[in-house]
Amino acid sequence: MAKKAIIFDLDGVIVDTAKYHYIAWRKIANDLDFDFSEKDNEQLKGVSRVKSLDYILENGKIQLSQEEKDKFLVAKNDHYLSLISNMDESEMLPGIKELLPALRKAKIPFALGSASKNARRILKALQLTDLFLAIVDGTNVSKAKPDPEVFVIAARKICYAPKNCIVIEDSKAGIEAANTVNMISVGIGSEEILGAADHVLKDTSKLTLEFLKNLINPTRV
Ligand code: BG6
Ligand code: MG
Repeated sequence: MAKKAIIFDLDGVIVDTAKYHYIAWRKIANDLDFDFSEKDNEQLKGVSRVKSLDYILENGKIQLSQEEKDKFLVAKNDHYLSLISNMDESEMLPGIKELLPALRKAKIPFALGSASKNARRILKALQLTDLFLAIVDGTNVSKAKPDPEVFVIAARKICYAPKNCIVIEDSKAGIEAANTVNMISVGIGSEEILGAADHVLKDTSKLTLEFLKNLINPTRV
């Protein structure tokens, strides 16, 4: 049994969907007569759908009834789903398509820990479902990242102690969640945003089998 296991985030780590979430949220903001910048969108990465809408409304200084909020949540998700309706392998981030089978071959266990309620649909479209030892998503949790619940459940499902789990995340909220329970955090993106991570890689092309093997079994110098 490998000494450590990996927990992957989905959006922005396995698949390039972060841009579609942004397009769909920006449309909601625009429909409410304000704009929503890419910089502000960083705060939404990893954050649940409901919390994201609250953040956007706060940003636009808009108050809505629960009924109106529900309407916008449905509209955002419908738009997002239409944007990903033709999703195929080409939307996978660099190197991921090769990395996941290579991890299986190397007997390194890995699970999914995503905030998305659409995670299973996306994994299915990419034919990745069966590669994961466990899948924990937005339908399995009651607390959204930065709460570590999603990662703690994933760790429990694959029978690894949190300190032996390596979390791969593109969001600030996800890195905070992993750090809270002393998991090893690997940020995918900019040092400026993900500086709290134990390791930061510019993009997934740097997330190689060799890099992960070295985290699992550090080579002595
Ligand atoms: C996260 C994304 O993975 O899932 C967020 O980074 C998104 O942008 C969240 O809001 C919830 O996703 P969904 O698909 O349930 O709306
Ligand atoms: Mg993400």
